[in-house]
Amino acid sequence: MARVDPHSYTDDQHPQVTSLSWEARVDFASRTLHATVTLHLATAGSGPLDLDTRDLDVSSVVDAEGRAVPFVLHPEEPVLGARLSLELASPTPSVTIAYRTSADASALQWLDGAQTAGGTHPFLFSQCQAIHARSVLPLQDTPQRRITFRASLDVPAALRGLMAAAFVSRNVAGDRAVEQWAMPQPIAPYLFAFAVGELASVELGPRSRVWAEPSVVKSAAWEFEGVEAMIDAGEALFGPYAWDRFDVLVMPPSFPYGGMENPRLTFVTPTLLAGDRSQVRVIGHELAHAWTGNLVTNAHAEHFWLNEGWTRYAELRIVEALEGPDAAALSAAVCRIDLQETLERFVRGGHGELTRLRTHLDGVDPDEAFSTVPYDKGNLFLRTIEDEIGRPRFEAFARAYLDRFRFGAVTTDEFVAFTEASLPGVLARVDAAAWIDGEGLPGNAPSVHSSRLDAVVALGTALPPAEPAMSVMELNLWLDRVPRPQTAAWCAAVDARFGFSTSGNTELQASFLRIAIASGHDAALPAVEALLLRVGRMKFLVPLYGELLARPETRDLAKAIFAKAAPGYHPIARAVVRGRITAA
Ligand code: BES
Ligand code: ZN
Repeated sequence: MARVDPHSYTDDQHPQVTSLSWEARVDFASRTLHATVTLHLATAGSGPLDLDTRDLDVSSVVDAEGRAVPFVLHPEEPVLGARLSLELASPTPSVTIAYRTSADASALQWLDGAQTAGGTHPFLFSQCQAIHARSVLPLQDTPQRRITFRASLDVPAALRGLMAAAFVSRNVAGDRAVEQWAMPQPIAPYLFAFAVGELASVELGPRSRVWAEPSVVKSAAWEFEGVEAMIDAGEALFGPYAWDRFDVLVMPPSFPYGGMENPRLTFVTPTLLAGDRSQVRVIGHELAHAWTGNLVTNAHAEHFWLNEGWTRYAELRIVEALEGPDAAALSAAVCRIDLQETLERFVRGGHGELTRLRTHLDGVDPDEAFSTVPYDKGNLFLRTIEDEIGRPRFEAFARAYLDRFRFGAVTTDEFVAFTEASLPGVLARVDAAAWIDGEGLPGNAPSVHSSRLDAVVALGTALPPAEPAMSVMELNLWLDRVPRPQTAAWCAAVDARFGFSTSGNTELQASFLRIAIASGHDAALPAVEALLLRVGRMKFLVPLYGELLARPETRDLAKAIFAKAAPGYHPIARAVVRGRITAA
């Protein structure tokens, strides 16, 4: 026997599950899914079959002939969850498992009406990356086992279900509606996704529409108007879009990420709705995953840089195509600064190993290891190769790579072997070993030049001029570069001028509040609390709690706010923030 992924019980000697039929009844009252799943095997199989689960209550397992299949649900392990071992007595093409999810399923957040924009209807959504699909259904939860699926969601008739899949039908019977979905393209299990709530949609273009709660769908349509142009830019770079549609679902504010690239239906945080289109590059990033991540997927979490490094590269290329080289250079410079900060933080915290591209995550929860390193060090590595061989050759290489591993999973070694075969000698010339397995940034990292960045940096603590007005990105950069602590008077003057502490742009608000906390500008603390109660996006939670925990004066406040806010966070965000509070 051999396990193929440090975060899965999937065994390469066991039968391979290639598609699922999933039927789930959504019960908001008990916060559970009552479900059955039929796992269809590549070829009729017998013998042991190990599956991943977490907090599932399994009631029965039968084979294709309806014969009971003996099973053992092993005790829960801290990172992996509980192994479900089936024993298939005689060759069978499929097994059907009846089970219930737990109210604490790590992928799922069940929201009361009060936690939504509309205020009345409940909402449910999933977030399966990195290893949470197993809390929704028993399966081989590794990107090395792609699946197609058919699904049926039984929801309250007042609500809509949505899946990252193709819509088939909706039938209303009494106060329930049953919706059918199908996913014809094979996906990695972490891309299994659905949401249930009061949802409306607006067309954005021939192959995309935006879904959101009715009260926000108009502003969402305005914010994301440029999506079709982005898809065109992606196709010009990487070839035809493989997933038919690119719809976007605006989540409730507790969504723990900026965006999640669920195929056909990207999930995004409502904090992108800044009213100024300043955050659309997150859409560009999730769109880019259609090629780099969803089509060619990291084999497991230790090769996460292959997903995110390539996607950051593609995101910046899309920005360049749509907004021009200046905007792309500024974005690249921002990424470079964020990366430097992250690298220093890891070194200070004694986690130099997390500054490698290829990580070692045996026994480590991928959510805990998450950082910008795979994104931005990964992108810089690819840029270094590009600089070495020139853009035209690099583009041809990227396309050949996507073509070679299309609908497949890749390890770092496979990437290296493919690159060596396509571009002999190049890896040695860029010192790829130092990039991949070395800590920090190699000396040959490309430098990033942005004259707009230079102008922002030159300001120092001087307030930006009123004319010409700076873009949101430049303002954000200025805030992130301001040395701290400042005086409380400085914070008050900045806030009086720009109104950051009450800004509708959560990025600007959070960047300002970080300075305010570090500077002892206590007048801003109510705004910090309000933000932490309203929003569950980890990009804001982690630094803001971090600043509060870093100062003895606000450490208790951090704990008090968390106690109040935690029930409103997604389980992933709750666990990550709790970890930071415990470590402080
Ligand atoms: N796939 C990630 C989000 C993710 C990563 C979820 C790891 C779970 C585990 C997504 O594509 C992403 O990177 N989102 C970023 C936005 C982006 C512009 C960098 C985010 O959420 O901030
Ligand atoms: Zn990403």
